[in-house]
Amino acid sequence: PFKGALFDLDGVLVDTAKYHYLAWKQLAGQLGFEFTEADNERLKGVSRMRSLEIVLEVGGVELSEEEKLRLAEEKNERYLQYIRRMDESELLPGAKRYLQALRAQGVKIALGSASKNAAFILDKVGIADLFDAIVDGTKVSRAKPDPEVFVVGCRELGLEPDDCVVFEDAEAGVQAALAAGMRVVGIGHADILGAAHRVVRGLDELVG
Ligand code: G6P
Ligand code: MG
Repeated sequence: PFKGALFDLDGVLVDTAKYHYLAWKQLAGQLGFEFTEADNERLKGVSRMRSLEIVLEVGGVELSEEEKLRLAEEKNERYLQYIRRMDESELLPGAKRYLQALRAQGVKIALGSASKNAAFILDKVGIADLFDAIVDGTKVSRAKPDPEVFVVGCRELGLEPDDCVVFEDAEAGVQAALAAGMRVVGIGHADILGAAHRVVRGLDELVG
């Protein structure tokens, strides 16, 4: 029994993790190096600029601040080309039903995402109205594994950390939730998310 549920977006509610990956992979290709799915795990939950720095580190590429800003912008343009075409069919299995089931039980729901595109995506897939609070990359400055995004989300719900459960697909996100003093359900594989209190393959495992 918990009073508040805090959801990461990319890879938990919507299948956008693959689009982030494709956009970064294309950028790496353009700079002349490979970017693998294993490398990509390090980007999950991480802000856009920090992600770019990790990508450049993988390729051993050093660039000026100005060039980095341009590339981050370019990556986002590519990513937006994918997400502009999104609709309800790209909600992950069980996502909408689980949110509805929690609401029906009186659980308060917040989004806790590093993405600056979060509000746009919630709108595209038609679940924006299921949230009591939306905390995203436009509202917080410290990226996961810093707990800020979940601490603010919990506060916006009017709850305490031990009232809240976090749902996360990123290792950095699991660390952020633990640092916030919250329980955490990992969405994905135990080899990556082993620090979570429980790991499931998807939200559909949690709804009947
Ligand atoms: C989420 C994703 C990251 C992404 C970050 C920023 O945390 O897991 O892969 O880099 O959001 O997203 P944005 O849409 O602002 O580029
Ligand atoms: Mg995620």
